Amino acid sequence: MRVTVIGTGYVGTVTGACLSYCGHRVTCVDTDARKIDKLRRGEMPIYEPFLDELLRQAAGRGGIDFATELDEAARASDVIFIAVGTPPLPSGEANLCFLEAAARGIGASMDDARFRVVVNKSTVPVGSGNLVETLVREGIRDAHPAGVKRIRFGVASNPEFLREGSAIADSLYPDRIVLGAEEDGTLQVLRELYRPLVSQNFDAPAFLPRPVGLRQVPVVTTTLTSAEMIKYAANAFLAVKIGFANEVANICERVGAEAPQVMAGIGLDSRIGARFLNPGVGWGGSCFGKDIQSLLHTAHEYGYQSRLLEAALEVNRAQRQLVIQKLQEKLFILKGRSIALLGLAFKPETDDLRDAPSLQIAERLLQMGARVKAYDPIAMPACRENYPDLRIQYCPSAEEAAQEADALVLVTEWKEFAGLDLRALARRMARAILVDGRNLFDPEAARQAGFDYCGIGRPQRAARPNSAGLTAP
Ligand SMILES: NC(=O)c1ccc[n+]([C@@H]2O[C@H](COP(=O)([O-])OP(=O)(O)OC[C@H]3O[C@@H](n4cnc5c(N)ncnc54)[C@H](O)[C@@H]3O)[C@@H](O)[C@H]2O)c1
Repeated sequence: MRVTVIGTGYVGTVTGACLSYCGHRVTCVDTDARKIDKLRRGEMPIYEPFLDELLRQAAGRGGIDFATELDEAARASDVIFIAVGTPPLPSGEANLCFLEAAARGIGASMDDARFRVVVNKSTVPVGSGNLVETLVREGIRDAHPAGVKRIRFGVASNPEFLREGSAIADSLYPDRIVLGAEEDGTLQVLRELYRPLVSQNFDAPAFLPRPVGLRQVPVVTTTLTSAEMIKYAANAFLAVKIGFANEVANICERVGAEAPQVMAGIGLDSRIGARFLNPGVGWGGSCFGKDIQSLLHTAHEYGYQSRLLEAALEVNRAQRQLVIQKLQEKLFILKGRSIALLGLAFKPETDDLRDAPSLQIAERLLQMGARVKAYDPIAMPACRENYPDLRIQYCPSAEEAAQEADALVLVTEWKEFAGLDLRALARRMARAILVDGRNLFDPEAARQAGFDYCGIGRPQRAARPNSAGLTAP
C-alpha cells in the first residue's frame, strides 16, 4: 500500500521504517527541513537502536523516502498517519496545534481519485478523532470548495505503544495493535495494512530475531473514543505501577525491608507481574507525565476528579527530590559540593531528555549552590543543545565525572554503568558517596569497593547482636 507518515520523531520515523520494511511504500514528511535532510543523507535525527539499519533495509523492500511537503505524498497514499507531537500546555491540556495543522494539510492535499484513511497515531485527548475528521473536512473545503462531497476518507485512531530504546522490536513484534474507527471500510484498509505484522509473515531482520513462539499479534478493534482511551489508560496504569513501587520502597527503607526483594516477591504473583516494579528516582519521558495530565484535564472537563492519578503525579514529583534528601543526609551542606550524575536520558538506550528526572535533579542541585558534572553515553549533545542554560559540566567518561566529586548519583541505568570498576571509581573521588537512583549496583559490592552506598528502598543493615549480646562488626 502507499503510506504517508506525518512527523519524523520517535514514533513517525519508526512507524515509517517498519511499515516499509514489511513491504509498503512509505513517504515520511516533516516540516523540520533539518531532520528531513539528515534522513535523506542516511543520518538519524534521533538515537534509537537499529533504526539506521532498518531504514537501510526498508529502502530495498517497500521503499521509503522523505519530504518536507505533504501534498504529493498524501495524494498518492491510501493511508496517511499523523505522528506529530502533542506536548503539554501549562494547563496540562495537550497542545493540539501540530495535529490541527497536519489534519488541515491532509484535507488540502486530497483529491477524489481514491478512498483514503487518515490514521491518528499521536496521543490525543479523547474525542480528537472527531476533531481530526472535522479538520480534514475543513481543509478540503478551504482548498477545494467544489470537492467536499466527492472526496472520500475515513478516520481511525491507532495508538502507539512503542518504548524508546526498544521501539523497533515493539513495532515489529507488538503485544497488540489497537484500531479504532466508526466504519468497517476504514478498519478493512487498516487490517490490510497491518496484515504482515499481525500474521508475522515477514522475514525478521537478522539484528532483531522474532521472539520465540510469536505467530500472531492480537488486534483490538474498537470505537475511536475507546482506542484513544486505551492509550491513556495504559500509560496511566504503568505510571501508577511505578509510583506504587516507589511508595512501597519508601516504606521499606523506614521499616528495614529490602524493596527489590519485596518487588520480586510480589511480581511473581501472576495478577501483578514483575515488570515496572523497580523503585527509583521516578519516571520521566515525553509520555507519562503529559498523558496523565491530559487525562486529568479531560476528566475535569466532565466533572470528575481522579484522586489516584493526581496522587501518581505527586508521588513522582516527591520521588525526584529523594536524591537531594539522600545527598543532604550524607553531605549536610550541598553548597560548593561537586556532584557527579551518571546518566541524563530519561531512560537507557535513548537520547530523549523530555521530562527526565536528571534535569530536575541537576536544576535543584545548581539552585542549592552545588557544582554538577555529568556523563551520559548518548544524551549529552541533546542536553547541551536543548538545555543550554543548565550549567552542567559535561564529562567524556564516568571516570572523569567521578574525579574529585563529593558524591556520585546514578540517574539512568545504562548497561555500561553496571560494568564500572567501582573500586577505581571510589578512589578518584573526594568523598566516595554513591546514591544509586536505580538500584543498579549490589550494595555489598559497592560498600566493599569503598563506597558509602545508598539505594532506593534499601536500608542500611543494622548490625545484628551476637549470641553474647555484643554487637558484631
Ligand atoms: N515518544 C514515544 O515514546 C511515544 C510513544 C507512544 C506515543 N507517542 C506519541 O506520539 C506522538 C509523537 O511523539 P514523538 O515522540 O514521535 O514526537 P517528536 O516530537 O519526536 O516528533 C514529532 C515530529 O512532528 C513534526 N511535526 C510537527 N508538526 C508537523 C506538521 N504539521 N507536519 C509535519 N511534521 C510535523 C515535528 O517537526 C517533529 O519532528 C505524540 O503524541 C506522543 O505522545 C510517543
